[in-house]
Order: sequence, then C-alpha cells, then structure tokens
Amino acid sequence: MARLTKEQSKRHQEACALVDLDRDLSIEVAGDRVIDLCAGIGRLAYGCRDLWGRRWNDEPARQFVCVEKNPDYVKVGRKVLPEAEWVCGDVLDVPNMGLGRFDTAISNPPFGSIKRSGDAPSYTGRRFEYHVISVASQIATFGAFIIPQNSAPFRCSGESRYREEVDTECVRFQEQTRVDLTCGAGFDTSIYRDQWRGVAPKVEVVTCDFTEPMTVVAPVPSKAVAATPAARPVRPVRPMATLHLPGDQPEEQLAFEIPAA
Ligand SMILES: C[S@@+](CC[C@H](N)C(=O)[O-])C[C@H]1O[C@@H](n2cnc3c(N)ncnc32)[C@H](O)[C@@H]1O
Repeated sequence: MARLTKEQSKRHQEACALVDLDRDLSIEVAGDRVIDLCAGIGRLAYGCRDLWGRRWNDEPARQFVCVEKNPDYVKVGRKVLPEAEWVCGDVLDVPNMGLGRFDTAISNPPFGSIKRSGDAPSYTGRRFEYHVISVASQIATFGAFIIPQNSAPFRCSGESRYREEVDTECVRFQEQTRVDLTCGAGFDTSIYRDQWRGVAPKVEVVTCDFTEPMTVVAPVPSKAVAATPAARPVRPVRPMATLHLPGDQPEEQLAFEIPAA
C-alpha cells in the first residue's frame, strides 16, 4: 500500500474510528465486482474486500469501483485502496458512466434532504439515501446500505425485537422503485453508536435483491368503499429455507418456513 502523509493518516484513522459497521456489512456482499457509492476515502470498500475468505475458496480478489465526489477524499482513497478504480464524480451520474454491471453495490451515503444535482432514475423524493439506492438498482444485482433507521421499513437496531414500520416517504420510494429494503442478516447497529464522531445517528443496514421487484397488489374494489385505495407494493412471499441433511433424497429434505419476527 502507498504511504499516507501525516494528515492523510490522521483522516484515515478518524474515518476508521467512525464506525466498525463495515465489517458487519461485508457479510452482505456477494460476488466479484463491487461498487461503493459515495465512497468517501473507501473505508466501507476496504472492509468488504474479504481477502481471506476469498483466498480460502480460491476465488479472485474482488474488483472495486469507488465513486466519490470530493476530490480530497478520492486522493486519500486512492492510497487507502489503490487496487480500486476511483471515480471522482456525482453518484447521480453513475447510470450514465458506462461502468458496467456489478454483483453488489454498497454505500454509506449522506442522509436526508441534502442538495443534489437531480433525481435518480425512478425516485423523485427528498431522501438522498433513497436516490443512491435507486442508482444502485440500475447497475447492481444486490445492494447493502447503511441508512437512517427512519428510512428503513423496519426497526431492528436497538430494539428488543424486529418490527416493521414504514413511513410515507419510504412507501413513496417503494412505490416508485419497487425496491424492497430488507434487514438481511439483521445485525444490531446500535452496538456501534459510541463509535460515531460528533453525531450518533440511529441507522440500519438494509439489503436489496434488485432482481426481485416488489409486487403490486391491486386493491379489491368493494361496493362499500367509495374510493378504491391506491395499490401498494408488498414484499415477495418469504422464501422457504431448506435444510439438507447428509444422504437426503430431494423429497426428504426438511423444509420450514422462516418465521416472521
Ligand atoms: C458518510 S460519507 C461516506 C464515508 C465512506 N463510507 C467512507 O468509508 O469513508 C458520505 C460521502 O458521500 C460523499 N458525497 C456526497 N454527495 C455525493 C454525490 N452527489 N456524489 C458522490 N459522493 C457524494 C461525501 O463527500 C462523503 O464522502
């Protein structure tokens, strides 16, 4: 790895101390080609390299593309993760950058209604994190994102039990993009709250399978209801997990439904 200057090293240490979530998030990353959107200095991508696991399985090192708009961060990032392709640019331009397809998109984007150059392909609301996820849906198969807890359609972190909670902006995002935000491995990010500097936002890790759009259930018209309610996106039916026992014949496999939390 290239040598960092004192200042760069200080910034790197600060970023590393921000949050250890990247290591948790890395288990949601699949495939060989990964893009980090709003990559900063590449901390998240750095944590998702999975050097040992991949070497163990005789898999090639992951190929990373990191997109970041701040040229100073890109400069540091090129030293932190020199093997990545660094693109200094606006995340909203990514669908037109000709970067190709990715197995997984990852991001710890800026949160909320910050200034932006335009809209992502299908989302027109105010939450920047949703714009980033919508961009990711255009170029990647899977996604794993750190977003504010309020923007997730569930509450997992810092809660005694998982529960679903969807606000109106999240419904708008789901209706416009058909992207389902799921809780993946469901780890509790609140254990890292003390590691954030300055602010300690409540966050969730959301995962997406962009190949499985949410289906829209048209409401059943009822004579009793004057105005037919709008169609709502709903989650795909929960998958059946299959436990393979040694020597099993396919029909003897033990299937069980993953219980709703
Ligand atoms: C929370 S930080 C990400 C930190 C990063 N995961 C890391 O490990 O260093 C959000 C980043 O998004 C970048 N950003 C903000 N708006 C952007 C845009 N329109 N396009 C690309 N990057 C952007 C910021 O410069 C900042 O580095």
